[in-house]
Amino acid sequence: MSKRILVTAALPYANGPLHLGHLAGAYLPSDLYVRYKRLKGDEVVFICGSDEHGVPITIAADKEGVTPQDIVDRYHAINKKAFEDFGISFDYYGRTSSETHKRISQDFFKTLHNKGVFTRKKEEQFFDVSAGMFLADRYIKGTCPKCGYEEAYGDQCEKCGASLSPSELINPVSMLSGETPELRETEHWYIPLGNYQEWLAKWIDEKTDWKPNVTGQCKSWLDAGLNERAVTRDLKWGVPVPLDDAEGKVLYVWFDAPIGYISATVEWAAQIGDPEGWKMFWQDEDTELIHFIGKDNIVFHCIMFPAMLKAHGDYVLPKNVPANEFLNLEGKKLSTSRGWAVWLHEYLEDFEPDLLRYALTTSLPETKDSDFVWKEFQGKVNNDLADVFGNFVFRTFSFIHRFFDSRIPELKNPNKQDLDLLDEIEKHAKLISASYEKFRFKDAASHTINLARLGNRYFTEKEPWHSRKNNLEDCANTLHVCAQITAALSVFFSPIIPDACDRLQKALNLEINGLLLWEEAHKNMLKASSVVEEMEILFKKVEDDIIEKQLQKLLEKSSSVSAAGNDAGDKSYEPLRDIITYDDFAKLDFRTGIILKAEKMKKSKKLLRIEVDLGFEKRTVLSGIAEFYKPEELSGQKVVVVANLAPRKMMGTESEGMILMAENPDGGLRFVESDAEPGALLS
Ligand code: MF3
Ligand code: ZN
Repeated sequence: MSKRILVTAALPYANGPLHLGHLAGAYLPSDLYVRYKRLKGDEVVFICGSDEHGVPITIAADKEGVTPQDIVDRYHAINKKAFEDFGISFDYYGRTSSETHKRISQDFFKTLHNKGVFTRKKEEQFFDVSAGMFLADRYIKGTCPKCGYEEAYGDQCEKCGASLSPSELINPVSMLSGETPELRETEHWYIPLGNYQEWLAKWIDEKTDWKPNVTGQCKSWLDAGLNERAVTRDLKWGVPVPLDDAEGKVLYVWFDAPIGYISATVEWAAQIGDPEGWKMFWQDEDTELIHFIGKDNIVFHCIMFPAMLKAHGDYVLPKNVPANEFLNLEGKKLSTSRGWAVWLHEYLEDFEPDLLRYALTTSLPETKDSDFVWKEFQGKVNNDLADVFGNFVFRTFSFIHRFFDSRIPELKNPNKQDLDLLDEIEKHAKLISASYEKFRFKDAASHTINLARLGNRYFTEKEPWHSRKNNLEDCANTLHVCAQITAALSVFFSPIIPDACDRLQKALNLEINGLLLWEEAHKNMLKASSVVEEMEILFKKVEDDIIEKQLQKLLEKSSSVSAAGNDAGDKSYEPLRDIITYDDFAKLDFRTGIILKAEKMKKSKKLLRIEVDLGFEKRTVLSGIAEFYKPEELSGQKVVVVANLAPRKMMGTESEGMILMAENPDGGLRFVESDAEPGALLS
């Protein structure tokens, strides 16, 4: 039965270009899912667009001395094109500065206002007298009350990670005029999220199929208790609050941006000539609404927006919000200000989209942060795409061209090995499909390449270069089977590497009836004696010097940025993790200890095998610090051990705990020490 599915990907701020982190967070996963669902024959609409309001935009504009409209026009065009070039197959890419969006978000606000959802409150906020305006959080800097850092923002200290409100800052300064702002009274509309707490808790509790990283974050917000949140701001840039007595006020960007999903769907429907067509997707209970986002957006998509939708009453609620964690780059946190990023448009100057789509799919931050490493990218392309998939297809094609007159040979009297491999098509169809359904795209990729691997191995084992001389029937069967596997792979692989699969399907003459469906990929996909066209090799290998060049580029950019002085005070700190309760903390058993001896683990560059004295007992712990400490310098080192961590086997040795390490901003690891005797419990 075909389903109706509305897939959204977080609207990126139109204040800068896109990098790999964006792709890995929301856009590649959503595209994989959508492409898969389209193959399944479901009715899918895939929506995204530019988030063009909010302080990040106005700050970018101020910096350059241009208008916010200039900024969003520029980056809307750049980002829209980058997505297209990379093959992200949105049905519609909207923007929140559009007239439709203004109308729809204002209507949304008015509906909630008329239903009496909002509270209205006067509060004191900072006002810049010479600029003549109230200052949103990011327009105020000052000294952090928690750590003393002098450049903390009104909403957050980037040094210690504390979340702040502007009035907490010591010596607040306006970023517009550099003057001390004064407190003035202003009035805003608030959504009392507490009113939805009970409903949200139950709703989220029922989401047993959501990713644990998502429900976990929601639950800690709910446990902490939901407060009211202002839905309006005193700003010149944004959607004006549609009330008579709201002069100079605009909707808070996190109020209007998610409504952008609705307005973009409305524009999409108009564009395809079915102006009412959007309603099916937003107002019919049978729609599955899926939001793809990065983890920093969870609270807005799982708490705030659902509460807004529920309060409104006319719209469907998300069925799932498969948020990803973050992607690091070469072992370090991505940072635009420090130039530690790979920009999408730059990548596309040197490589085809398919290569990155595959490499990134195999290392998506699905359950924890992951790392993009150029050397690994090269390995994935050369070993998997070129040597396994590409080679398999190449061998199959060249045998059919040379020895079977470019036609698919018939299958006659196949042996068990032939039949077994043909059966793998159906088995893999199920495995791959199940992975996509569960948003496990890494698994989907590994099952898919495995089918190619089986094909490649079968080809080698059956030695058609021999059978072609002494058993032509067997040779024909081998090539028949390989061709069917190739054809099935051209479908199974198409969500991940659409361009290569397109070329492959053309060469196999499979594309005559338009998009092939998932269920058409089976062991009799190709008819005997159908013609196979000539085809260039699917993937060229990536040479070392090209990879060197990427690394060079990265280092040059990041050092030129710090040389330009932008680095001052802009160290990156890990953002604070989610709030936990005391009970969560009390589960951890930290003990002080002393290292008795340490030695290198064979075959491991990172691991040391360490014996620790915990006073009451000795433990063997494997620790990934070999790059930072020599084993011989470690005996006598004081440490803190997580003593009740489930033992874990690594490289054949069981590790009975974990030594706590602190990570410096440069990535170096240092011990955490205490003067207490071994065996002391930290509390
Ligand atoms: N612009 C936001 C960000 O990049 C995401 C907005 S998602 C939406 O973090 F739902 F609000 F559109
Ligand atoms: Zn601080």
